[in-house]
Amino acid sequence: MLDFLGNLQRTHKCGELRVEQDGQDVVLMGWVNRRRDHGNLIFLDVRDRTGITQVVLDKEISGEAHAKAEAARSEYVVAVKGKVRRREAGLENPNMATGGIEVVAHELLLLNESKTPPFSPAEDAIGNEEVRLKYRYLDLRRTEMQHNFELRSKVAMAIRNYLVEQGFLEIETPFMTRSTPEGARDYLVPSRVHAGSFYALPQSPQIFKQILMISGFDRYFQVARCFRDEDLRADRQPEFTQIDLEMTFPQQETIFHVVEGFLTAAFKAAGIALTTPFVQMTYDEAIKNYGIDKPDMRLPAMVSLSDELTPELRETLKIEQGLPVLGFVIPNVGTLSGTARKGLQEEVRGGFGDSGLDLLDVVRLKTNATFAPLAEAVETKLSAAPDDLLVVVTPKLGTPAKWNHDPQWIYKRVGALRLQLAQKFADKHGRFAKTGTEADYKFAWVTDFPMYEWDEEAKVWNAAHHPFTSPHEEDIKAGRLTNDKGAVRALAYDIVLNGTELGSGSIRIHRQDVQAEIFRSLGMTDAEAKERFGFFLDALEYGTPPHGGIALGLDRIVMILAGASSLREVIAFPKTAKAIDLMVDAPTPVSDQQMRELHLRTVTRT
Ligand code: AMO
Repeated sequence: MLDFLGNLQRTHKCGELRVEQDGQDVVLMGWVNRRRDHGNLIFLDVRDRTGITQVVLDKEISGEAHAKAEAARSEYVVAVKGKVRRREAGLENPNMATGGIEVVAHELLLLNESKTPPFSPAEDAIGNEEVRLKYRYLDLRRTEMQHNFELRSKVAMAIRNYLVEQGFLEIETPFMTRSTPEGARDYLVPSRVHAGSFYALPQSPQIFKQILMISGFDRYFQVARCFRDEDLRADRQPEFTQIDLEMTFPQQETIFHVVEGFLTAAFKAAGIALTTPFVQMTYDEAIKNYGIDKPDMRLPAMVSLSDELTPELRETLKIEQGLPVLGFVIPNVGTLSGTARKGLQEEVRGGFGDSGLDLLDVVRLKTNATFAPLAEAVETKLSAAPDDLLVVVTPKLGTPAKWNHDPQWIYKRVGALRLQLAQKFADKHGRFAKTGTEADYKFAWVTDFPMYEWDEEAKVWNAAHHPFTSPHEEDIKAGRLTNDKGAVRALAYDIVLNGTELGSGSIRIHRQDVQAEIFRSLGMTDAEAKERFGFFLDALEYGTPPHGGIALGLDRIVMILAGASSLREVIAFPKTAKAIDLMVDAPTPVSDQQMRELHLRTVTRT
């Protein structure tokens, strides 16, 4: 028989009581996290969002309450009236905030029962993610998940507060709109009233925020939900949240300053102090030093060994002249046995396939009198400590001309190897624990991205960021938009944290003539540009101020702060890698009537 709540009110939350409340009468409410039956004594761990309190039911104190506790099971909802008691010396639980006390129950109300859950929310780790997502309401009861969402709420609030203090206005933009070019497919919403027409859900508020600048709002922000139909990964969800902002008359540095400010506030809310300003590097420097545009600076950078590998040495060692030789270290890997070293070399060489890249076996070179000086010079250049894994990649004589199409190809390939090996020697959580950098937050701004990307398959130039990004003024003046697209630099920047792209932004084009030229340079005819973005080109003609902005993924920020490896840990109701919500079972077919109303018919293509 279940009890009614009546007018009972709780006096404390389950994580609140301490020895200072010894002897106090309290009322707690929550879920039975665990129940331990010792005959005349039953212990119920009662849980709510704030924590867990041990409740003691002593048959001698209250036979009725004890009898009810016998019936209680995991996840039953209970109310406890009782007295706080300091635990006897030696019986405290230092792992619980409330571990110094327990509550001796005089009365126990069973407010609701629970079926036996498919997994216990009391467990720290649950293996099967599909079950977690199907029973998300139980998964979200777990302490870890409750912490993640508390963190998310605090971080979002800190960012909002900071931006409002800095004079930003929060303005909502529509969900039912037209396609925005962010490079993914759109989610479409069919119109009932306009047969055959569709709204697109926004991939970002990009065009609207630019229009808000044209409208004179000066500083806009939005905690904006965005929708993108793209291949999903651990750090990509089909719907996600951006901290999206835009300003009039900014320099790049103005925007960096605002972002550094709100990130500092957000990390402070999570108990982490950041140092600003963040490191800045150009895209070319990022590729040269890290082989990637989102450098993970918790690990040492790659180093060019071209000076050490003189033309004569290259000839002897059969290394292609003129191509970069790059080295890097993975710190504190420890001494590898001969067999482990050989195995690793084979694995890496296997990964290189027929790319023409090879490894220089520095350990072996050291044992050869002729090459020992080279090995030592390499170790010095890489500042390699005895416990570090040292990797040197060389282009073999006759390396295929692959890299000619993309001069940065070798850097990117070696950069990928650096990350792969770092992961291999990371701890079981995927952290570079051995480098002692578990709670290390290394931010970087990457600037001067290329304006265009060459699509080899389609043989067209695409916008590397989006087509509203301004090229460098010198590149416009020098006519590179038409003569030398590959050399045009964009006023675009990314903010990167520990190898993850947190956000992207740019200074925008504010002149209609430049915008039209960019559309043309992307292979869009004036008619196509007018058809897709006519309203925007029109708006640009009415006194558009110079403006710029950025958007950061809130989910990604919280994921990193929570130490999680997937966005699903920080989005309350996420989708699977196949874009399915397993709890509500979406997407689903709709009724014939809805299909008719929307003027839709399903055609199965073979
Ligand atoms: P961009 O497309 O780079 O830029 O997106 C900005 C940031 O949004 C986050 N993000 C995602 N997070 C989770 N799942 C996804 N599928 C996903 N896609 C993007 C990332 C990314 O860095 N309008 C421009 C911004 C601007 O120019 O102001 C834009 O949307 O953290």
